[in-house]
Order: sequence, then structure tokens, then C-alpha cells
Amino acid sequence: VRVFVPRDSAARSVGADEVAERIAALDGNTAVVRTGSRGMLWLEPLVEVETAHGRVGYGPVAPEDVDGLVAAGMLDGAAVGPHLGPVEELPWMKRQQRLTFQRVGVVDPLSTADYLEHGGIAGLRAALAMTAGDVVETVVDSGLRGRGGAGFPTGIKWRTVLNADADLKFVCCNADEGDSGTYADRMLIEGDPFTLIEGMTIAAYAVGAAEGYVYLRSEYPDAVATLQAAIELARAEGWLGPDILGSGFGFDLHVRVGAGAYICGEETSMLESLEGKRGMVRAKPPIPALEGLFGRPTVVNNVLSLATVPTIVANGAAAYAAYGTGRSLGTSVFQLGGNVARGGIVETAFGITLGELVNDFGGGTSSGRPVRAVQVGGPLGAYLPVEQFDLPMDYEAFAAAGAMVGHGGIVVFDETVDMAAMARFAFEFCAAESCGKCTPCRVGAVRGVETIDRIVAGTDRTQNLVLLEDLCELMTDGSLCAMGGLTPMPVRSAVRHFGEDFHA
Ligand code: NAI
Ligand code: SF4
Repeated sequence: VRVFVPRDSAARSVGADEVAERIAALDGNTAVVRTGSRGMLWLEPLVEVETAHGRVGYGPVAPEDVDGLVAAGMLDGAAVGPHLGPVEELPWMKRQQRLTFQRVGVVDPLSTADYLEHGGIAGLRAALAMTAGDVVETVVDSGLRGRGGAGFPTGIKWRTVLNADADLKFVCCNADEGDSGTYADRMLIEGDPFTLIEGMTIAAYAVGAAEGYVYLRSEYPDAVATLQAAIELARAEGWLGPDILGSGFGFDLHVRVGAGAYICGEETSMLESLEGKRGMVRAKPPIPALEGLFGRPTVVNNVLSLATVPTIVANGAAAYAAYGTGRSLGTSVFQLGGNVARGGIVETAFGITLGELVNDFGGGTSSGRPVRAVQVGGPLGAYLPVEQFDLPMDYEAFAAAGAMVGHGGIVVFDETVDMAAMARFAFEFCAAESCGKCTPCRVGAVRGVETIDRIVAGTDRTQNLVLLEDLCELMTDGSLCAMGGLTPMPVRSAVRHFGEDFHA
């Protein structure tokens, strides 16, 4: 019998390795397959047993419960202990539309056979049979937008790189995932790394690049190890290298590990860091698509953007664009975290409301108290009150509400949260992580902390609230990059929606 236990670091952190060892030690007839995580984090370690009715889940399973559960019939799929029934039938899974995450939690991330069996490499094969320009136009037509947060159309970026005349071009994957409350890049790399490799290879073919880099944060050691192993395996399969799948097209990929600076997730800082320099922001223009790594035209995309490309090219632009709403097409990978009863990965078409994600999927807070605020889009995203829970997840709808979808992180807070403290934290975070290149951010963040302290202390409260708004306007308009430019977003949203917290 085949038993599946995640090797994802979220599952490992709550004992998945010990659970897998106990099951493997049972008898010779049990094969333990280590997979990625399904993204139902409150159920980890989640054990799945292969049965005639599909994979039956048990979770959470503690290492010390394994022997008892096996004696009671877990390996036959019996309804014992934390039995969940067929995993694919769970409402959490059934309500999702998993395209980017279709294989995560299903396959052994380092099995090339599993990858092929579950539709892998179909996108690359299809791409190699097309002209580079047709691949670019397929991505344009799919409506895919940058999943790192800015939402710039991926295909348009690629078209710029394709049309740039240069001796050398690069594809760089931004896997620095610094946003608090986000972990989709990590889970994708740990759970299905070949999809990222395939997506980067398609991107390289589409723009004419011969070399690629994945900039991966040092805080993700499991992802680093998994991706490095996957690259070796991909080379052996001919999915990377001088002659990919006999096409004559050559591309190779390298992993570079960051050193823990949030600003190195900003694309130009990341390029500086990749070049071996200190991670300082470069002024744009020139955009990296024209002058990127070592001054050459460079595709810089987030993990999720690149990992979505294989399914788009394999199944056609129209199939992807059939999901979503307005100009936010396809699916997005939302990540529920913070004070939430059921945290994890929810991949659905754009258009689902914030309330559906937090209440229906997330089950409200883990403390059991009412939800008061959610921060969407990382530490630079807006805080939204429950009155805005009918807001659809859609780049434009969020922008109109003074918020952003960003990288899809949703952090939940209950009624005990102090929103003035959260606004202060936004400035503190900016002061700590600023690269220091421009004054509005470097100095403004420090002045922001001081101003909020005066407001909360009741010192010239009205004048300081005006000053705070002035400072926010200056930072938004005058900062060189999104670090200083977006810090006002959480601050302003906290003042607007939770103004009562700014009284003495
Ligand atoms: P941006 O709007 O300046 O650029 C977006 C992308 O489009 C860049 O790659 C840029 O080079 C490219 N681009 C712009 N104009 C172009 C053109 N005409 N042709 C080709 N390419 C073009 O936004 P930025 O500063 O890169 O990103 C800001 C976003 O980053 C924020 O909205 C936030 O959501 C997100 N973010 C994500 C984090 C994470 O951990 N994933 C952390 C912090 C911020
Ligand atoms: Fe550096 Fe901040 Fe200016 Fe960005 S906004 S360039 S992080 S100082």
C-alpha cells in the first residue's frame, strides 16, 4: 500500500518526518511517498492512504498515534481517528481551481516519472513546437499578470525582452518572497519544482535567453535543496542543458541564495545582488526587460507567474483566460495566515470575495473572537475591515478600494488588535528594511514612527494627523521604489478604517 506524507517544511515543522519514519518502519508492504503539502496547514501532518476510492486522508496525525491508527485499520482507509475521507472530496479542496498548484501535494516533487505522469513537460513540448513569438502571444492572450504583486502583464514583459536586440539575455526568477504571511512560492518550489523549471525554460525559449537564475531566500533551506536536486534531475532528463528535448535550443539554470534583505525582493535590488553587489535599488527606467542582469535584457518574474506558464502553453490561452473576472484573468494562489482557524493555500479564479476566503475557507479566527481586520498583500498592503468583505479579489477592485491584492497573502487579526500599533509597525518595518537610497523612505519612515507616537500620546493630535497624511503623500509620490512608496498604504488604511485606535 502507498502512503503519502508531506516533506514540505510546514509539515516537517509539526512532525511529518517522524510520522513518515514510523509508517516506513511498520512492515515491508508499505511504501511511503513524500509529497508536497496540499496546503491545508491545520491538518498537518496529513497522511494520505491510497485506496480503491482515491487517496483517503488522516490529519493531523501525531507520530505517537501512528501505531494505534495502523492497528485500527488506517492502511485500509478505515474511518478511524482523524479520518477525513477522500482528500480530493474535502470542501476545502473541491471548491478550489488548482492550475498552478495542480501537482503540489499530489506528486513526489523529485520524481521525474511522477511529473510526466501528471502532465509535466507538455507545456515545454508545445512551446518548442511553436515560434518564440507565438509562445509570447499565447502568454499575452492568457491574460497572465505578474503574481509577485504588481500585476504587470507577463506576456507584454516577455514581448519587450523578445524584441530587444542583444548578444545575451537572461530569465530571472524572483523567489525572495519577503512578504509576511506569504509562502506560496516556497510551497510550489518544495512541492513541484519541475513546474518552475519548465516555466523558466519556456520563458527562455520565448525571449531567446540562454541562462537563468533563481534568486531564492536563505530562510528557505528546504526549497533551496529541493530546487537544486530538481535542476540536476532535469539536466539528466534533457529538460535543461545545451539541447533541450532534441530541439537544438539550449538553456541552463542556477540557484542563488539571498542573505535576508526584504529589499532584495525588489527586482532591481535583486539584480544588483545577483551581480554580487549590495542590494540597492536601481532607478527605473531603464526597465530590466531592456537593461537587466549585467545590463542585458532580462525577464524578471515571480515564482508563481513562471510556474503558471506550463499549464497555459499546454492547454491554450483561452482555457486559462476562461477563469477570472475583468482584467484579472486566471487563478490566483491566496495564502491565509495570521489569526485564522484554517490557514493555508487557496487557489481559485479571481473574483472570489475576501469574505469567502476568510470565513468560508479560513473559518474565521483561531482565537474564536470576531475578525476585526485583514491585511491583504503583505506588509505594504492595506488593512481592511469586515465591512469590506464583499470586495472581490481583483487587481482593479482592490486598487479602487485603496488596497492591493499583491502576492495574495491574507493575514487575519481579531478584535484585540491595536491598529495604531500596526500602522506604527509599517513605518518601523520600512525604516528597518529601507535600502537608504532615497530621502522620502529613509527619513520618512523614521519620522512616521515619531508622528504616530505623538498622535497616540495625544500630543497635538489634530496637527500630527495632518502631518501624517502629508508624510504619506510625500512618501507615495517621492519614493524611488515600492518599499517607501507603498508603506503609506497600511498606514492610511488603518487611519481611515480604524481611526478610533489613534486616540490617546
Ligand atoms: P512595477 O509596477 O514598477 O513593475 C512591475 C513589473 O513590470 C516590473 O517587472 C517592471 O520591470 C515591469 N514593467 C513595467 N513597465 C514595463 C514595460 N513597459 N515593459 C516591460 N516591463 C515593464 O512594480 P514593482 O515595484 O516591481 O513591484 C511592486 C509590487 O511588488 C507591489 O505592488 C507589491 O505587491 C509587490 N511586492 C511583493 C513582495 C513579495 O514578497 N512577493 C514583497 C514586496 C512587494
Ligand atoms: Fe531604497 Fe526606500 Fe528609496 Fe526604495 S523607497 S529606493 S527602499 S530608500
